Amino acid sequence: MASFDLSGKTALVTGAARGIGFATCERLVARGARVAVIDLDQEACDAAAARLGEGRAIGIAADVTDRGSMQQAVARTVEELGGVDVVVANAGIAHKGATFRALGTETFDRVIDVNLMGVVRTVEAALPQIVARRGHVVVVASVYAFVNGIGTTPYAMSKAGVEQFGRALRVELAQHGAGASVAYFGFIDTEMVHKALDADPLAERLLAAVPKPFLKRLPPKEAGEGIVRGIERRQPRIIYPRRWTAYSVARGIVNPLLDTLMVRDAKTQAVLRDLDARAGEEQQTTA
Ligand SMILES: NC(=O)c1ccc[n+]([C@@H]2O[C@H](COP(=O)([O-])OP(=O)(O)OC[C@H]3O[C@@H](n4cnc5c(N)ncnc54)[C@H](O)[C@@H]3O)[C@@H](O)[C@H]2O)c1
Repeated sequence: MASFDLSGKTALVTGAARGIGFATCERLVARGARVAVIDLDQEACDAAAARLGEGRAIGIAADVTDRGSMQQAVARTVEELGGVDVVVANAGIAHKGATFRALGTETFDRVIDVNLMGVVRTVEAALPQIVARRGHVVVVASVYAFVNGIGTTPYAMSKAGVEQFGRALRVELAQHGAGASVAYFGFIDTEMVHKALDADPLAERLLAAVPKPFLKRLPPKEAGEGIVRGIERRQPRIIYPRRWTAYSVARGIVNPLLDTLMVRDAKTQAVLRDLDARAGEEQQTTA
């Protein structure tokens, strides 16, 4: 029995024009919710909203790095859909791999601004609605919240921060009858993964050390369904593929061992030398 019935509810999802965000919207609509599709480009938002069905969704262009723009997006959702019961702070970017030493400060700052502060701004704008309606918050982290972030320090740091944010929110919101979940994904088959990993031979070499089962990719619809099920059950943690749950539980023991292994592993150190040589190269992000 679902403890949070989504039928007739309203959700605001960021980064919703494609990937995990769009798949989450599809599953929300399938449960009878109406959604505000938030993303950078108005046309992409409108196209996504149209695919979700007449009267089921509205598209609003907003940038999670802009506090005012997020507040306006929430205000428009309240005006047009009547309120916000659920917020899914999903928008995020990855970057071309490089060591921290080689990474440009602009790329570093941008990733933190979108992935960590963007989640904070999204929740902050929606929170008065969530509290008033005893709603639910989902913050999208990653297994990089607890996997060593070599080659992608700002991404991993942002996700570890998002995890802390979501955990605290869950406990702080309990007094208001509202809830919060942290979503951790391994590898989901989206444009982010295609652009940041598949297009980069060094990323492939770095991931060669990861046991194959952990590299399994799920289609976005499974991630979206996982988020929606997590909301219905007000789950503290949403982890997909599920095999990452064991790692998350064992992280306190496994991580110090793996960190030491990586310091000593010749192949890992060889890739890191190449990632260190990327200083001064153009460093694209995935959006
Ligand atoms: N794909 C994976 O394997 C994976 C794994 C773990 C976590 N995640 C996380 O899931 C979330 C969604 O990722 P995805 O794989 O669907 O990526 P994606 O690149 O396919 O989609 C991300 C969406 O966010 C939007 N976006 C980016 N910056 C924005 C901004 N400033 N304001 C508003 N929207 C913005 C993009 O335009 C894009 O539509 C991200 O937070 C990502 O870090 C993904």
